[in-house]
Amino acid sequence: MRIIITENYEEMSFKATQILASQVILKPNSVLGLATGSTPEGMYKGLIKYYREKLIDFSLITTINLDEYYGIKAENEQSYHYYMNKNLFSKININKKNIHIPLSQAKDIEKECKNYDHLIESVGGIDLQVLGIGQNGHIGFNEPDIKFEARTHLVNLDKSTIEANSRFFNDSHDVPKMAISMGIKNIMQSKKIVLLASGIEKSEAIFQMVKGPITPNLPASVLQLHPDVVLIIDKKAASKL
Ligand code: GLP
Repeated sequence: MRIIITENYEEMSFKATQILASQVILKPNSVLGLATGSTPEGMYKGLIKYYREKLIDFSLITTINLDEYYGIKAENEQSYHYYMNKNLFSKININKKNIHIPLSQAKDIEKECKNYDHLIESVGGIDLQVLGIGQNGHIGFNEPDIKFEARTHLVNLDKSTIEANSRFFNDSHDVPKMAISMGIKNIMQSKKIVLLASGIEKSEAIFQMVKGPITPNLPASVLQLHPDVVLIIDKKAASKL
């Protein structure tokens, strides 16, 4: 695990932008695994800036998002479809047919999950997966106790995750209690992983992920076993290391 500790959120975002941009330049038809949440927003802004400056071109890029709330409509402002469109896709030259996010309104969820696994295989796997981390150490929506061999599946969200996500919803009753998420196995099969974290509230999860035992109780700890992981974390998130 390589660990880059940055002064603040802005520097974290800048370093992450550089790694993604170099991936896009070196392999213009890369498959990027993308994450949502407030953490990668600065990185997406950086990528849009590079695109506008004509440094990077997304026309051959494929994207596969980690997760989506269960049952939410794509037009809902809280959906990850909406987030991705607003924060990245509507501002770059990506081909719409190369964008993939779990369809949480699919009638047959099990089939949708299997299709998602097949999709990841059919594009040759993920070249670079971006991750954030939940305060309980979740990655994607793989909550504590998840099986490391899980692939895309329907998840019951942890109470702490529902609480953390309620900041984005006007009414706490509207916060989804379930999600579709890529599994740990899908994530671990990515060729390269970049995990971002910022702020003191992530410091315990970061400490456990890096220094704690490898355990499904702290899903991100499995990344200790991946051969090519870069953590880009600001000094507050790194404060317990
Ligand atoms: C959600 C997402 C994760 C994300 C996490 C942290 O649970 N499913 O992919 O990493 O939130 O979000 P934030 O970056 O807003 O702290």
